[in-house]
Amino acid sequence: MEDLVSMGLVRSIGISNYDIFLTRDCLAYAKVKPAVNQIETHPYFQRDSLVKFCQKHGVCVTAHTPLGGSVANTEWFGSVSCLDDPVLKGLAKKYNKTVAQIVLRWGIQRNTVIIPKTSKPERLEENFMVFDFELTKEDMDLIKTVDRNYRTNQPAKFWGIDLYA
Ligand SMILES: NC(=O)c1ccc[n+]([C@@H]2O[C@H](COP(=O)([O-])OP(=O)(O)OC[C@H]3O[C@@H](n4cnc5c(N)ncnc54)[C@H](OP(=O)(O)O)[C@@H]3O)[C@@H](O)[C@H]2O)c1
Repeated sequence: MEDLVSMGLVRSIGISNYDIFLTRDCLAYAKVKPAVNQIETHPYFQRDSLVKFCQKHGVCVTAHTPLGGSVANTEWFGSVSCLDDPVLKGLAKKYNKTVAQIVLRWGIQRNTVIIPKTSKPERLEENFMVFDFELTKEDMDLIKTVDRNYRTNQPAKFWGIDLYA
């Protein structure tokens, strides 16, 4: 990938699912700094140290699974979705927004790039309507308290193995 950058065929390269140790390792040997680290992060899996480490070193964090995966991960891996969280539901009521919009706005305000996915046009529109309000610092701090260090992407569980046990 670095060769592709030197050849002018690619502008930026990145890493994905690198934890803090792998990211630090990569920064030590990379000739071209990764522009981005795409990792799972949402209110139930905030990974503040990793996010801050990347940002401090100029590596943009893209939050994959920014809504906590919702139905797909719940059905396939038995994951719990942050969209059902009572604290987040309370904030949705306070701001007159949906829980998904609160979660996405939180992702934006912690300077991560959010890439929610939906198969429904009405939700696509809903997920774009996150630029007309701002969560207060107190509410950002409140969302910190719902963290469960909970990874929802657990494909191994699908096969009956728990890699993270
Ligand atoms: N790099 C990696 O290893 C990695 C791993 C996983 C995912 N990703 C990427 O991350 C992106 C998103 O991942 P994801 O789809 O797993 O997770 P996600 O965006 O957190 O969740 C998608 C789920 O949320 C539902 N949803 C979307 N908008 C909603 C809303 N407003 N209210 C309620 N539910 C809503 C969708 O259902 P409906 O379709 O029914 O709306 C879908 O089931 C994708 O581009 C994916 O490729 C990358």
